[in-house]
Amino acid sequence: MDIRTVAFILCTLLEITNTHGAALPCGGVLNEPKGEFFSPNYPDPYPHDAHCTWSIQSTGNRIIELRFPFVNLEYVNWDADCRFDAVSVYDGPMSDGRLLSRMCGNQTRVFNSTRNELTVLFTSDSTFPYKGFNASYSFVDMKCGGELTEPKGEFFSPNYPKQYPSKAKCTWSIKSTGNRIIALTFPEVNLEPDWLKDCRFDSVSVYDGPASDDRLLGRLCGTQNCHFNSTRNELTVVFSSDSSTTLSGFKAEYSFIETCGSVLEEPKGEFFSPNYPESYPNKASCTWSIKSTGDHIIVLSFPYIHVEYRNWDADCRFDAISVYDGPVSDDRLLSRICGNKTLPVKSTKNEMTVLFTSDSTLPYSGFHANILESAPS
Ligand SMILES: *[C@@H]1O[C@H](CO)[C@@H](O)[C@H](O)[C@H]1NC(C)=O
Ligand SMILES: *[C@@H]1O[C@H](CO)[C@@H](O)[C@H](O)[C@H]1NC(C)=O
Ligand SMILES: *[C@@H]1O[C@H](CO)[C@@H](O)[C@H](O)[C@H]1NC(C)=O
Ligand SMILES: *[C@@H]1O[C@H](CO)[C@@H](O)[C@H](O)[C@H]1NC(C)=O
Ligand SMILES: *[C@@H]1O[C@H](CO)[C@@H](O)[C@H](O)[C@H]1NC(C)=O
Repeated sequence: MDIRTVAFILCTLLEITNTHGAALPCGGVLNEPKGEFFSPNYPDPYPHDAHCTWSIQSTGNRIIELRFPFVNLEYVNWDADCRFDAVSVYDGPMSDGRLLSRMCGNQTRVFNSTRNELTVLFTSDSTFPYKGFNASYSFVDMKCGGELTEPKGEFFSPNYPKQYPSKAKCTWSIKSTGNRIIALTFPEVNLEPDWLKDCRFDSVSVYDGPASDDRLLGRLCGTQNCHFNSTRNELTVVFSSDSSTTLSGFKAEYSFIETCGSVLEEPKGEFFSPNYPESYPNKASCTWSIKSTGDHIIVLSFPYIHVEYRNWDADCRFDAISVYDGPVSDDRLLSRICGNKTLPVKSTKNEMTVLFTSDSTLPYSGFHANILESAPS
């Protein structure tokens, strides 16, 4: 056999392979933010015995939206399983076996991945080629994180209750105002567990304040339910996932709750009835513990005061500010105040306790109190 004969045979073989399609290049890795791909030869009929795999790969909080505006494959009406020619779409790598759909016949379809990868497998048998399919995809930002300022609400891991994406990072900042702290509950958490309990893989972290202050209240993973209260007007929730196992994620609910009272140890300061200058709530009970430096006494005055009062009720039985001479509210009562005017009250020692209580009716606008240290007289 001379060299020309060899060449001729090779070319003939290539030709044959080409018309039968098995060696036509098809499939590949697609990692641009958007693109298109087609069955081999599209829009002409696809070859016999094709086997093509496309792997579409995004990163971060981006999922993949995949459209099939045109699918025209062999279909036999007794073959719901698309045994002959088929386009199969997998959420993730094919090896995970999460088949979203196996298509044949005429269809138009749209799919969203739940994670950073989507795999498309096209196979044809040795008979009846049709036109095939055309497909386009794009990466879509998955909504995650944000600022929450409504008095109550809920939020979820991306894609909840379906699987959250890998390599996600979402930050929610919940912000209240005034005397309101933030109560946060997780009725459902289902994240990749960590047997060391450090939540090294996927986690939800809750911070008291901005995350940068690093006042971590808790870090959750695995399955659990949990409850947190902020001590301030801000609570931060950070969700992060690694590149493996993803589960259904979490659901969180929060609400603002009215609180009042505090410990005051500065030489001068001020405090307010809850919600001031708006009406204080019914059934409030707030305690301020005031301590001066050294042996100084404490002088309490009210730049503004308007607390429920009846002129026949000198005992302030309804709503009242009770001032005690010492560190607890059963020390000697210095004054019980209601109505809208009062004189300054002085402690005899370096500690004073102020208790504000309201009943279940007629809230007023409350008070603004000043405290000042003074040398013992
Ligand atoms: C894909 O199919 C649709 C529907 O038939 C058609 O409108 C569109 O032009 C096709 N795209 C390409 C690139 O052929
Ligand atoms: C499927 O689509 C092809 C090409 O658009 C068309 O010729 C054919 O009639 C369609 N078949 C059915 C069953 O709708
Ligand atoms: C895919 O996700 C996008 C963006 O979140 C959404 O607009 C669209 O309705 C989703 N499509 C499907 C089929 O779920
Ligand atoms: C949060 O505060 C509320 C209202 O004061 C209380 O009922 C609840 O037990 C607190 N939860 C935690 C975890 O401290
Ligand atoms: C103070 O309270 C009395 C009795 O409730 C009321 O008549 C009066 O108008 C109030 N004064 C002010 C300045 O609110």
